[in-house]
Amino acid sequence: MFAVWAVALLCLVSLSRSADPACEDLVRPVDPLDPAHLEGARSIVAGSMTTPEYAEKFKTRDSASISFVNGTSFSRVFRSNDSCQYLNSNITLEGSSFNFHQYNITVTFLQTSCPDCLLLRFDNMSKELQRLYLFSKRREVEQKEMDEFAAQAQCLNSLPPIVMDPTKPLCPEEMSNDAEAQPDKKTE
Ligand SMILES: *[C@@H]1O[C@H](CO)[C@@H](O)[C@H](O)[C@H]1NC(C)=O
Ligand SMILES: *[C@@H]1O[C@H](CO)[C@@H](O)[C@H](O)[C@H]1NC(C)=O
Ligand SMILES: *[C@@H]1O[C@H](CO)[C@@H](O)[C@H](O)[C@H]1NC(C)=O
Ligand SMILES: *[C@@H]1O[C@H](CO)[C@@H](O)[C@H](O)[C@H]1NC(C)=O
Ligand SMILES: *[C@@H]1O[C@H](CO)[C@@H](O)[C@H](O)[C@H]1NC(C)=O
Repeated sequence: MFAVWAVALLCLVSLSRSADPACEDLVRPVDPLDPAHLEGARSIVAGSMTTPEYAEKFKTRDSASISFVNGTSFSRVFRSNDSCQYLNSNITLEGSSFNFHQYNITVTFLQTSCPDCLLLRFDNMSKELQRLYLFSKRREVEQKEMDEFAAQAQCLNSLPPIVMDPTKPLCPEEMSNDAEAQPDKKTE
């Protein structure tokens, strides 16, 4: 009986102490980043925004997917209103980050315990967080993985996560073959 109380008490103590050191551990960049770990298509599972404006914009998307190739190419596909938008950028990884010059954004990969996830932190040029995105090879993650993401968002003073509807369709992956590059256009 005493042992149980001792454990409960320890948990309470560690909870009340968790604020700063725990947050430091939760929001570390991936270091070192292995570009091979970025490979493969992933879809967005949840996002956390720093402003209600970003949140409204985020909610207009039905789904989004990303893929990295060779740590040098970054493709995104957004689906809203039954149409697909394909974007592609060449990137240069610098440690665990890359610059997204055309948007004045720096993207940093943060650590996550979710094995097939990528957690992307978008900062503006003053290095202030704007948005956090959790991508996975699955459409939904485990509750404990979502709880971790919510804790990370909270540590960064971002709004609670908006979870994507996993039943909404994804856009087809873009083919390198031109004829198949725009799935919205029927080949006639
Ligand atoms: C892969 O990336 C390296 C630099 O990180 C580059 O030198 C090489 O050309 C790239 N390969 C392809 C196929 O793009
Ligand atoms: C989707 O369609 C609605 C109604 O046609 C429109 O108001 C909205 O702006 C569209 N959203 C996007 C993201 O294009
Ligand atoms: C990205 O790099 C490839 C070759 O590595 C080049 O063909 C392509 O034009 C580049 N795209 C952009 C948007 O700069
Ligand atoms: C990026 O920053 C430059 C200079 O600060 C500014 O002129 C430009 O409009 C910004 N671009 C975007 C997409 O915000
Ligand atoms: C970066 O974002 C912060 C907070 O969102 C804002 O106060 C600051 O002006 C922004 N800096 C730039 C260069 O946009």
